[in-house]
Amino acid sequence: MEIIIQPTAETATNVAARIIAHLLREKPDAVLGLATGSTPLLLYRQLIAMKLDWRKVTTFNLDEYVGLASTHPQSYHGFMWENLFQHVNISKRNVNIPDGLTKDVPKFCAKYEKQICAAGGIDLQVLGIGTDGHIGFNEPTSSLASRTRIKTLTPQTRKDNARFFGSEAQVPHHCITMGIGTIMEARQNLLLAFGKNKARAIAEAVEGPVTAMNPASVLQQHPHVTVCLDEAAASELKLTQYYHWVYDNKPAWQQL
Ligand code: PGA
Repeated sequence: MEIIIQPTAETATNVAARIIAHLLREKPDAVLGLATGSTPLLLYRQLIAMKLDWRKVTTFNLDEYVGLASTHPQSYHGFMWENLFQHVNISKRNVNIPDGLTKDVPKFCAKYEKQICAAGGIDLQVLGIGTDGHIGFNEPTSSLASRTRIKTLTPQTRKDNARFFGSEAQVPHHCITMGIGTIMEARQNLLLAFGKNKARAIAEAVEGPVTAMNPASVLQQHPHVTVCLDEAAASELKLTQYYHWVYDNKPAWQQL
């Protein structure tokens, strides 16, 4: 894992945006895995400002709430079009987001996995992290080998996401999420976390044991993971000086 700690969410996001911009310039038909929530908002803003060419890019989103139509303001379809897709030249047919209204969830999930394979696999997956260590909506105790499927949100996640819905009661209980096994097949994972409320989950994920109790910890077994943090999210890490030294002394060929 490469741990990059920056003074602010803005500067940490800038590192992540440059990694994605570099990929899209090297591989204009890249396949991106995308995330929703507060964390990637700045990233999407910076990517829009970079005026990259998205014409040949294919995207797969991590998750969607079960029961929300794509037109629902809190659906992740709505989120992605509002915060990224409508501002870039992506082709609508290249956008893939789980269907929260599918009549046959297992069939839909199997098809989503096949679509990812047919697109050539995900080159780079953007991830946020829940305060309980979830990635996608893979809550604690999710199988580390899981594939795209239905999951039940924990009370903690429903509480965390109540701010988007107005009240906790309106937050759906179920979602469709890529599995941890699906995420582990992305060629690169780019995890972003900002703020003190993520510090514990990040410390456990990066420096704790690999455990389904903190699903993000499985990324320790992935060959290419970049973790972009602000100082608050990094505040419970032990090896911060080492991470800073590594980043400040990267060989020239590794720099962006
Ligand atoms: P957040 O959510 O970006 O809104 O904090 C992260 C997540 O739940 O993965």
